[in-house]
Amino acid sequence: MATYDLIVIGSGPGGYVCAIRAAQLGMKVAVVEKDKTFGGTCLNVGCIPSKALLHASELYEEAGHTFARMGIMVGKLKLDLPAMMAFKDQGVDGNVKGVAFLFRKNKVETFLGTGRIAAPGRVEVTGADGAQVLETKAIVIATGSDVARLDGVPIDEKRIVSSTGAIALDRVPERLLVIGAGVIGLELGSVWRRLGSQVTVVEFLDRILPGMDNEVGKQTQRLFQRQGITFKLSSKVAGVDAAGNKLKVAVEPAAGGAAETIEADVVLVAIGRVPYTAGLGLETVGVKTDARGRIVVNHNFETNVSDIFAIGDVIAGPMLAHRAEDEGIAVAEILEGQAGHVNYDVIPNVVYTYPEIASVGKTEEELQRAGVVYNTGKFPFTANGRAKANMTTEGFVKILADAVTDRVLGVHIVGADAGNMIAEAAIAMEFGASSEDIARTCHAHPTLPEAVKEAALAVAKRAIHI
Ligand code: FAD
Ligand code: NAI
Repeated sequence: MATYDLIVIGSGPGGYVCAIRAAQLGMKVAVVEKDKTFGGTCLNVGCIPSKALLHASELYEEAGHTFARMGIMVGKLKLDLPAMMAFKDQGVDGNVKGVAFLFRKNKVETFLGTGRIAAPGRVEVTGADGAQVLETKAIVIATGSDVARLDGVPIDEKRIVSSTGAIALDRVPERLLVIGAGVIGLELGSVWRRLGSQVTVVEFLDRILPGMDNEVGKQTQRLFQRQGITFKLSSKVAGVDAAGNKLKVAVEPAAGGAAETIEADVVLVAIGRVPYTAGLGLETVGVKTDARGRIVVNHNFETNVSDIFAIGDVIAGPMLAHRAEDEGIAVAEILEGQAGHVNYDVIPNVVYTYPEIASVGKTEEELQRAGVVYNTGKFPFTANGRAKANMTTEGFVKILADAVTDRVLGVHIVGADAGNMIAEAAIAMEFGASSEDIARTCHAHPTLPEAVKEAALAVAKRAIHI
């Protein structure tokens, strides 16, 4: 029987990064993965394929709408959907092979099969060749999450799809109905709208992107509507009739009342994700979960059972790849006796639509609820030279800074490339910067990040270009 210092169950961004860091620190590490390829949700059916389709569909839309304004004539636009899907698959393939390479490079042993914790220190792996038991000093559970389902809306991944089906449709649906105006609904709704679908988004709450700053939600809803997406807020889907050629979706007010029927070719269920622990044997060893099925851990990511840890989507917190990665590094370092740590106050969050939506730190509503007095500095991209030259003037940068200390508490960006720009804000916040620190940092001209500097200047009401 093989004995390891660490066995990681799951090879998503949490698991694979944890395994590599632990191997770097000198541990003998094995990873158990039930899927055919490494990389988890993010690399196989999440971040990477969705971003490939967002990139390709954005260029497709630009070629159809904005190229001519720049004097680029491309003739009649034609979509080759199978080729676009092949482009996406190639990106996934390169990434998952990259993880396999990194495992080899760091001498992380891999086992393809479903991992079950048979007892503390014992992981049973059931794969194509039967079952085997591995022994280990510590176990990290990094089994991720699965799609949340909705009663009366059974997912078949063909006509009623989750994100997994929605990144692999074989034709552009004439009408796409999305349930949930969260990140997946807006990203994948944007992909199919750009490729020609009429998109309706049904959202239970009275706003899109709950959890993000209210102003960001309101302004981006307007931009998405201008692009042609229809929103039905404060509404819920009571069921889908799949008997005919068209799906008949019963949509009713969230508070109850008469239902209307909306026809669609494809329905995308995007109402969140739930932790995935099926078959893991948590009950056998007595690992505690909370009311939402998430594994309960302490500040060192340790469960109630010694030497069993958990990270990523399977525990509480924002379901983001970079958060899972940072937890993977932290837990590996903690296992080595170091002070592994994740700063949950500075985790950037990006929605990769056009314009992109990016934030880090607190929203205005959170600061108001906490009774924090803050100053706001705002700068629109309509006043940024590069945005004007590129004709990408939608959106703004908003910086929230403590009224007493001027420390930056939150940054919210709506605009082209917001996802890249938020890194500057995250670094500033990690170093405890004030808005004046950002304002006095020289920013290259002409660049979009100059809008971040101007927003920082605007905190003290001294923006130059507006
Ligand atoms: P996962 O990536 O889910 O990996 C868990 C792994 O464990 C899987 O490979 C699974 O097969 C394996 N596993 C489960 N049980 C067992 C078992 N018993 N034995 C062996 N293996 C097992 N996040 C971002 O930050 N940016 C994005 O742009 C982004 N886009 C997304 C787009 C979509 C469509 C989706 C669905 C998600 C997206 N996310 C994004 C979220 C991101 O994918 C997750 O937060 C991230 O993958 C979580 O990593 P993880 O390691 O915790 O789990
Ligand atoms: P989400 O939590 O972002 O959004 C779900 C939306 O569905 C919410 O607006 C919610 O109010 C609504 N909703 C819930 N039940 C409903 C119902 N019955 N009827 C109508 N609306 C309902 O979840 P989503 O979009 O499914 O994404 C799952 C996770 O994946 C997110 O937590 C996100 O962190 C992660 N992700 C991250 C991405 C990124 O970082 N760019 C991209 C895609 C996913």
